[in-house]
Amino acid sequence: MSAAAPWLTTRRLALHEITDAHANELYELDSDPRVMRYIGSGRLSTREQVDAAIRRVPRAYGRYPGLGTWRATRRDNGDFIGWFALKYIPRSAEVEVGYRLRYAAWGRGYATEGASALVRYGFIDLGLYRIIGVTHPDNAASQRVLQKAGLADAGWGRYYERRLRLFEAVRNGAWRPQWPQDAAAARALR
Ligand SMILES: CC(C)(COP(=O)(O)OP(=O)(O)OC[C@H]1O[C@@H](n2cnc3c(N)ncnc32)[C@H](O)[C@@H]1OP(=O)(O)O)[C@@H](O)C(=O)NCCC(=O)NCCS
Repeated sequence: MSAAAPWLTTRRLALHEITDAHANELYELDSDPRVMRYIGSGRLSTREQVDAAIRRVPRAYGRYPGLGTWRATRRDNGDFIGWFALKYIPRSAEVEVGYRLRYAAWGRGYATEGASALVRYGFIDLGLYRIIGVTHPDNAASQRVLQKAGLADAGWGRYYERRLRLFEAVRNGAWRPQWPQDAAAARALR
């Protein structure tokens, strides 16, 4: 188990800040072709790319308070399952929700649980107006996750220098709380 208090918890997951102590597990995550299939060009990350991300991610916590990328662990046994992000897309004014999970953790609703929590946090705690998600056109599982997290199909967009499928949620618009305990908080926004 991680000693530091989690930054955010959901029913089954704990999200923690990333430090350079996490380089190995993140490199291992990005070394699985099944995980990387629909990311960028589908190539595996190099160690240098992971090390650069490990330097960039903690800097961003200070630069963009409230936004970031967090490593996710299971609350019951502390196992690392991947990461979730709520962050600016480079060279855009858009905040995206994103996630990358270890293959062993797929198919249990974790992506939906983490993404839903970040969307809720983005609207209710940060007061964001719009949150988007972008995926490779063939990444049906991720598109399903975004829809289950309350984002609606918005066609196509150009991000990360690629033409990607675009999903969006607008506060007080199509976005609806996913769980009953969100309803009171969401009502406060209306
Ligand atoms: C995409 C990813 C995050 C999904 O994680 P997960 O925890 O398995 O997702 P969930 O269990 O919350 O939900 C997956 C949904 O997609 C569906 N799904 C899975 N594979 C699918 C496929 N090939 N086609 C259509 N739907 C699919 C599941 O049935 C489920 O929907 P349901 O609950 O209605 O049945 C995970 O596969 C992953 O990390 N992939 C690699 C990284 C990645 O692609 N990240 C997203 C970049 S945009």
